[in-house]
Amino acid sequence: MTCPVRLRPVIPGDLPIFFEQQRDPAANRMAAFGAADPEDRGAFMSRWEGLLKNPAVTARTIEVAGDVAGHILNHTTAGAPSVSYWVGKPWWGQGVATRALLAFLEMIAVRPVEARVAKDNIASLRVLQHAGFAIRGQTAAFAPGRGVEVEEYVMVLEPDTLAEAS
Ligand SMILES: CC(C)(COP(=O)(O)OP(=O)(O)OC[C@H]1O[C@@H](n2cnc3c(N)ncnc32)[C@H](O)[C@@H]1OP(=O)(O)O)[C@@H](O)C(=O)NCCC(=O)NCCS
Repeated sequence: MTCPVRLRPVIPGDLPIFFEQQRDPAANRMAAFGAADPEDRGAFMSRWEGLLKNPAVTARTIEVAGDVAGHILNHTTAGAPSVSYWVGKPWWGQGVATRALLAFLEMIAVRPVEARVAKDNIASLRVLQHAGFAIRGQTAAFAPGRGVEVEEYVMVLEPDTLAEAS
């Protein structure tokens, strides 16, 4: 049985939970483009304060059975509207990110919308493909989470693309 995923606005009490979720070394390696120092609570909190104050950003807490399972948000990367997400390790592999992204894409009307994903982040690649994103380019950039340059795909969801049945 799959638990329903609920998206709700982020409240300040969620931030310490997001902080713990992004401290996980395996998660950081996957994401690659996360924080240079996941232990830096001050930098994390000030980044989130900025996000929550920014009227162009829609950030949502991903809740599963009343627990904070992660977050999802839109932002602008290299001038393009983009989405990104993070799910805490206890919820991995249960379809949480896939369902959260599908729900979030119903909330935000902007299309086309991009996402960037390290080429070896197979889980995130699958999440994006389920939602109808397709590879439209590739690039390489310094990845703070790994301390080296990492190749990434630029994925795009075009207008009127249908999500895969998942
Ligand atoms: C990437 C991430 C969001 C996936 O979340 P999730 O809730 O586990 O994803 P889902 O359960 O919806 O799984 C989606 C697909 O990935 C697969 N998957 C999940 N974890 C995986 C892993 N560690 N390795 C390979 N595939 C994996 C699932 O089997 C599923 O594939 P399928 O649909 O082909 O069967 C989560 O691992 C995460 O937050 N990681 C750290 C941060 C990050 O990488 N964010 C994205 C940056 S682009």
